Amino acid sequence: MIDIHTHLLPSIDDGPETIEESIELCKIAANDGIKKIVATPHSKDGVYEAKSDKILEAVDVLNLKLKENQIDIEILPGSEVHIHEGLVGNIESGEVLTINNGGKFILFELPFVFIPPGTDKFVFNLKANGIVPIIAHAERIAAFQKKPELVSQLVKIGALVQVNAQGLTGRAGPGDKKCVELLLKNRLVHFIASDVHSLTGRPPILSNAVDCAARIVGEEEARALVCHNPEQIINGLDI
Ligand SMILES: [Fe+2]
Repeated sequence: MIDIHTHLLPSIDDGPETIEESIELCKIAANDGIKKIVATPHSKDGVYEAKSDKILEAVDVLNLKLKENQIDIEILPGSEVHIHEGLVGNIESGEVLTINNGGKFILFELPFVFIPPGTDKFVFNLKANGIVPIIAHAERIAAFQKKPELVSQLVKIGALVQVNAQGLTGRAGPGDKKCVELLLKNRLVHFIASDVHSLTGRPPILSNAVDCAARIVGEEEARALVCHNPEQIINGLDI
């Protein structure tokens, strides 16, 4: 499996503070059958400003440590951004890291309470520039919980959708669970990821969520959300 939304680089955002914690998180992921992890520190969200060179360096360091500790996981670079003017330019200049630094897929976070006006234009504009936006943890957005058809509208103009594993398993609460199940039923989900932040918060475990998804979309489609689809985007390929 491949986890495309994680905060597990040390001391770079609100993820773990030490490399030891990062390694522990990777051990948990490896035990769950995860082989690749895209590190997506918060960047350009008004609070955290993880810089691309720092992310790339931290990814290299963690990969080395994982080898030393014989943990069979590969970390790939990425980031999680808020939508902002100039994102296309930031991606082109390398100031903002796309998934696996491939220049094509960007994980972006919307405010939890409302969808900013112009989000559809933002998605459209990215697509017109050859960049595919991935909506992070769509089920956590209150506006989507109230009006899931808003997700459908954004998917129609080219956005992809990631949901959190804990949204599916119910640990994030009934509102998230109801929303994610509805999105799955309507085939509006492209990825399940952990959005891990720490050992105590959301763990980097995907298998339970895949089981939950399989009850809705079947085994094959559920597996694609953590295997085929993530594999495609880390290789810069369409889904
Ligand atoms: Fe996140």
